[in-house]
Amino acid sequence: MNVLVTGSLGQVGSELVLELRRRHGNGNVVASDIRSDAAAAAKEEGPFYALDCRDGRQLARIVRSHNVKRIYHLAALLSAVAEARPQDAWDININGLCTVLEVAREHDCSVFTPSSIAAFGPTAPKDYTPQNTIQQPTSMYGVTKVSGELLCNYYHKKYGVDTRGVRYPGIISNLTLPGGGTTDYAVEIYYEAVRRKRYTCFLKADTYLDMVYMPDAIKAAIDIMEADPVRLRHRNAFNITSMSFSPEDQAAYIRKYVPEFEISYNVDPVRQALANSWPNSLEDYAARVEWGWNPQYDLDAMTADMLKVLSERGV
Ligand code: SER
Repeated sequence: MNVLVTGSLGQVGSELVLELRRRHGNGNVVASDIRSDAAAAAKEEGPFYALDCRDGRQLARIVRSHNVKRIYHLAALLSAVAEARPQDAWDININGLCTVLEVAREHDCSVFTPSSIAAFGPTAPKDYTPQNTIQQPTSMYGVTKVSGELLCNYYHKKYGVDTRGVRYPGIISNLTLPGGGTTDYAVEIYYEAVRRKRYTCFLKADTYLDMVYMPDAIKAAIDIMEADPVRLRHRNAFNITSMSFSPEDQAAYIRKYVPEFEISYNVDPVRQALANSWPNSLEDYAARVEWGWNPQYDLDAMTADMLKVLSERGV
């Protein structure tokens, strides 16, 4: 099974490529990103292409020449960047996805597309937001995510393309930083705890959001694509979550390992408004029942691991 990953230099892509190459072999996993960063490409252990996912011709050429049968389509703008550049966000997030789905239809590929907690808006239930509920996001990022879910479901129903996806919460990782998201604070806080033992957070102390640690996020992407389709009553996209916490909760857990750690707040109104419009916590029963979602990390285990890895690396 040859696999293509778009957005492979991003936060999720960089770790997903490593894990897929470990499982399938370096030469069978094709990485691609709009950035043609020579240094990053040189570090690649397998094929890498500079690819704009809106370029259907080049995408089709890569799929044909590597006999790709599964696409992980991760190329997208995150929430805060999308709010600053809404027209670009629509173009990249939606036209990019349309291009990928068309190439997948023509070349019989399955497609993984990440959705987000941002696919819900202020009218959805805030706590334990159900799998199937009202989706009226008020951000451009959320509009592209809910449209993407519908488009993927449409391609499955109309053309039989094997589309699957999850609604990721904020993802915390220690290899590649996220870029331009609202949940980025939950990653930065660990770097700053190691570097300076203090952090100034751009969200309010009591803002609750769902989060997941990268090893569980990667496992979700792989497990859902390998799940028996007979068991899938949903496709795009499954709620998943590991934990729900606020910045002050996270700071308290960091203090368990770094007692001098201090947090202060300088709220960014744009990102606070985005966070306020999203759920406090998701209900992820469908993912657990239909394909065995069962995350391993809670806030304490993740905090211990993040601080250990970042300290050892000397960030
Ligand atoms: N982590 C994303 C963001 O903050 C939400 O899906 O934009």
